[in-house]
Amino acid sequence: MSVKAKIGPSILNADLANLAAESQKLLDNGADYLHLDVMDGNFVPNLTFGHHMVKSLRNKIKTAFFETHMMVQNPEQWISPMADAGVNLYTFHIEPVADVCKVSRLVQEAGMKVGLAIKPGTKVEDLEKYISIADVVLVMTVEPGFGGQSFMADMMPKVEWLRQNYPNLDIEVDGGVGPKTIACCAKSGANMIVSGTAVVGATDQRQVIREMRDVVQSYLK
Ligand code: DX5
Ligand code: ZN
Repeated sequence: MSVKAKIGPSILNADLANLAAESQKLLDNGADYLHLDVMDGNFVPNLTFGHHMVKSLRNKIKTAFFETHMMVQNPEQWISPMADAGVNLYTFHIEPVADVCKVSRLVQEAGMKVGLAIKPGTKVEDLEKYISIADVVLVMTVEPGFGGQSFMADMMPKVEWLRQNYPNLDIEVDGGVGPKTIACCAKSGANMIVSGTAVVGATDQRQVIREMRDVVQSYLK
C-alpha cells in the first residue's frame, strides 16, 4: 500500500486569537498538515473564517500543508481566493454541488488538490463516480458544523468499502477522532486523520499525535 499515515489537527477549537502560534505549536509537535474548517452559516449552522484569515496564517506559516474543509453552500465561489491564500488541498462537500466534476477541475486548474467530502447521511455510492478525480476523500464521522462531537462508528463501513476497492486512495476521517477512536478508524482503512479537541486540548500534543500516527501506520503495513 502506498498511502501514508498523516495526522491533520483541526484548529476549530483552538484559540483563534492566537491562530498562528497555536498552528505552529501543532506543527512543532509533529502535525503532518493543518485542517482548516471553513463554515458559511448556510451549509452548516455555524460560522468560522474565510480566505482572508487563511492568507494571514499562510503569511506566518510558509511551508506547512494546508487543507481547507469547505463546509459551504457554493464551494466554486471560494476556489480562487483560497488558491491565492496558499491552500494546498481544497476539500468540499459534494451534497450542495450540481457539477462536482466541473468544480474539481477548477480546483485543479487553480493549482490545488481536490478533496471530496460526504456528510454522515450521504452514501458512499454517491461519491463513487467521482473517485477518479479526487486526490482525497473525506468521510465525516460527525455531522459537520461543530468540534467536540461524538464519533459515529457507524460510518466505518463507508471507509472499509473505500479501502477495499481503492487500496491507494487517501481516505480521511473527521469528527470525534482521538486516541479512543483511532483504532476503529485505522482498522477500517483511514490514513488521513483529522483530530480537533483531542489534539488541541491535550497536555502533551506530541504524544497524542505520535500515538495516533503509530496506530494508523500499524494497520497500513
Ligand atoms: C466539524 C469539523 C471537524 C471538527 C473536528 O464540522 O469539520 O474538523 O472540528 O473536531 P473534533 O475532533 O473535536 O471533532
Ligand atoms: Zn473538518
